[in-house]
Parts: sequence; structure tokens; C-alpha cells
Amino acid sequence: MFDRALYDRFDKPFDRLGTESLKWDARKDFGNADAIPMWVADMDFATVPEVIEGLTRRAAHGAFGYNISNPRDRQALINWMARRHALGITTDDIMFCPGVVDAIYHCLKALFPSGGKVIVQSPVYGPFYSMVEKAGMELIENPLKRVENVWRMDFEGLEAILKAGADALLMCSPHNPVGRIWTEDELKTVTGLCARYNARIICDEIHADFEMPGFKHRCILSFPEAQNAVQLVSATKTFNLAALRHSAIICKDADVRKKISARLGEVMADVNLYGMLATRLAYENGDNWLDTLLVYLSENRDVFEKALRETGRLLPAHVEGTYLMWVDCGQLGLKGDELNSFFIKTAGVIPNSGSFFGKSSDSFIRLNIATQRSNILAAADRITSAIKAL
Ligand SMILES: Cc1ncc(COP(=O)(O)O)c(C=O)c1O
Repeated sequence: MFDRALYDRFDKPFDRLGTESLKWDARKDFGNADAIPMWVADMDFATVPEVIEGLTRRAAHGAFGYNISNPRDRQALINWMARRHALGITTDDIMFCPGVVDAIYHCLKALFPSGGKVIVQSPVYGPFYSMVEKAGMELIENPLKRVENVWRMDFEGLEAILKAGADALLMCSPHNPVGRIWTEDELKTVTGLCARYNARIICDEIHADFEMPGFKHRCILSFPEAQNAVQLVSATKTFNLAALRHSAIICKDADVRKKISARLGEVMADVNLYGMLATRLAYENGDNWLDTLLVYLSENRDVFEKALRETGRLLPAHVEGTYLMWVDCGQLGLKGDELNSFFIKTAGVIPNSGSFFGKSSDSFIRLNIATQRSNILAAADRITSAIKAL
């Protein structure tokens, strides 16, 4: 439920300087210490009040010896998945892991110990490429297609690759960086194809809770043909807890789970007390906080998308899920380092460069809109003025 007091809190200036914030405290490394940082995917908002209280109370206890999981940890996730995503899971289906990127790597290693072929749909979050490579697997790209500035999966391309033989599809759902929430029909098609050609789906759903008004995320495990898929989730994006390093691997297939949990045991992928506690408290108490955040973020999106379009030279994709805007800068006539430098040094806004997401994306940038409206407006002004002066 929307909460006015929380909304006002999101909107209030919030100083992250001097908190070892990668986004804010590393600005000088980009060569412009006054730039507005709109790159790494975390948010400029304090997390759920009950999480802050709970962590503070636990810290005051003072002893931080080895920890065990509380049954409430799994129950909180089960309840969240049922309440927010209508997905039924049980305690047995859940394994914990430090981060989602770690989870991708460990799942690949556990399920394909002697290698194999993994499909990724580019442009996509950079570590998808590096984790496949580090796991000793062959990466096959099935690039997304853009139709009237809406990014779509290329099902013909996917089927051709599957037919030729692929072991797994590493999916991003919702998709970072293009901001799509895949529709039920799209997910039905993809799960049907993977089932037909016997390819395992590993689905990174770290952005699942960011549903902009009018869009509904569907978990991969809610599809009958993907019951042996692996679904990766985390409260760290949703509630701004990335530094606490905690995620969950959800898997309904006992054989698959056995392999993954053996792998996690081998590498002692123990989870952090604070990550676990914060996640539980966020899932138990964070509904109104998230509902309110989604209103705030969707307003940011509308204001920022309009301002970027009005430059006449930038083409942002409409953000359906995530808080990340994928922007086609082709009309600026700049690419790669030149494009980055234009945004950072000339405009005073730090983006993620498109090449982080794929080799054909160097005329794109990704901008993070999870910040105060005042920063969104200032960034829009800076970008507009810099483009006018080009
Ligand atoms: C799709 C996706 N997966 C994983 C991550 C990172 O997850 P973690 O910090 O839990 O490794 C991100 C962060 O931006 C992301 O966008």
C-alpha cells in the first residue's frame, strides 16, 4: 500500500558521501568528482525502517560468531513469493548463496562440470558473459531484436541454436539492461522451446520485484514446462542491500538441487548473518515500502524518459521492470569511450557504457533512475544542455 511518509522520505536529499559507496565515493576515479552517478545498480534510498532497526539491535548485541539459518528466513521468502508473485515454493526448494552472480557461476559449475554450451540473450548484464567463460563453458549469443524500440527475444534464433545443440539458457527476467518484463506469452514460448530441446533454464530474477504500473512479472518456476529450471532471486536489489551479499537459489527438481547444494557445500558458500537477517526483515515488513518505491520510480521514469526524448537525439527504452534505462545514443554520432567521456566530462552524468552489456552496444548507455527526483531533474538538465552545445 502507498505510504505518503515513505514517499516523502524517498524524495528528501540523502547524502551517501563517505559511506564507502561505490556509486558516490568513486566518482573521482571517473575524472569528474561532481558528476551525478547514474551507473552501478543500487539506489539512493535508505532501506525499510524495520530492517534498519533489526540490524541496529543485532549489532548492539556485540557477538558475531558463526551463524545458522533461522526457519523464519525460508518462511519469509516462501511468503513473499506467494504474496508478491503467486509462486508456491517449499522450504526444501530453497538454497542460500552470497550473491546472484556467485549463484550463476556455482549453478553452471554444478550442473555442467565438464562444460557445455550456454545461450545468453544480448545485450545483457556483463557478468553473464564472464561467468559462462569462467565456468569453462561455451557462450552462444542469441541477440534480442528491437522492434519499434521495444526489445524482444528472437525465438527463431533461439530455436535454431537449441536445435543445433545447447545445454542451457541463462535468462535475465526482468531483463537488464533493456528494462523488459517478459510477458506470459513470451515466457510460455521460451519455456516450451527449452523443454522441447532439453535445455536447462537458469533464470536470474534479481529485478523481479520492480514491476512498473501495468506490468506483471512471472516467475520462471510458475511455468509447467520449466519445473526443472533454476530461479535466482534476492532482496538486495529490491531493498537496497547489495553490500550485504545474500541471494536464494530456488529449484523444485530434487536431482538438480542435490548437485547445486553439493557444489555450495564444497566451496563453503556460507551466507552472511546481516544479509540473511536484513532479507528476512525486508520480506516480512517491506510491502508498503516497495509499493511506495514503485510509485516514486515510475514517476522518475516518466519525467526522465520525456526529457531524454525531448533532446531529439536520445532514444530511451521504456522501463517496464528494473530501475535502469537503456538509451540509444546513435543520433549523437559518438561511440564507446567518446560517448562515455561526453556524458561524464561534458554533461556531468556517469552512465554505464553500453559495451559492458554486449559488443554491439557501444552507442548505448544505461542510466540508473533510482535516486531523488532532484537528481533526475538535474541530470536531465545537464544532458539537455550538453547536447544543445554539441
Ligand atoms: C541481472 C543482475 N544479476 C545480478 C546482479 C548482481 O547480483 P549480486 O550483487 O547479488 O551478485 C545484478 C546487479 O546489477 C543484475 O543486474
